[in-house]
Amino acid sequence: NVNKSALFTPEIRAAIDAHIAKYPPEWKQSAVMPALTIVQDANGGWLTTELMDDVAAYLDMPAVSVYEVATFYGMYDLTPQGRHKVCICNSISCMLNGSEELIAHVEHRYGVKPGETTPDGRFTLKEVECLGACRDAPVVLLDKVYHEKLTPESLDKLIEGLE
Ligand code: FES
Repeated sequence: NVNKSALFTPEIRAAIDAHIAKYPPEWKQSAVMPALTIVQDANGGWLTTELMDDVAAYLDMPAVSVYEVATFYGMYDLTPQGRHKVCICNSISCMLNGSEELIAHVEHRYGVKPGETTPDGRFTLKEVECLGACRDAPVVLLDKVYHEKLTPESLDKLIEGLE
């Protein structure tokens, strides 16, 4: 395979190989989601077309299938992101427990709408679907860590702690 992205390094391939090894050889495409997560993390939180093409070639799957996965799941982003991602769940349990208030608060205080990044690049605000932690609504996924039962005040504390 000829890589399209210089980021698709031997280290990245080794990290993907560790996931491929969990499946029978003919099912290596099953590693597509962890592979996308690995290359997205290596690229500052978003996926370029070149990186998705490299993943497709590496897993012997059609590029369009990789694009479909990357666009279907909310944890992948196809545009440049801030240094952090503040993902506020806005599905029903979280909505009934104040997630819209959280989103409105972040919009007002930091001047970003869902999908936008603060001018200083500190974070991107994302509105996401159920994160599977509804019991503790409202839930915010900050980068890869879940924070539960948030209020505007506790969310501010989290955001203020971001570099
Ligand atoms: Fe928000 Fe399920 S509705 S975690």
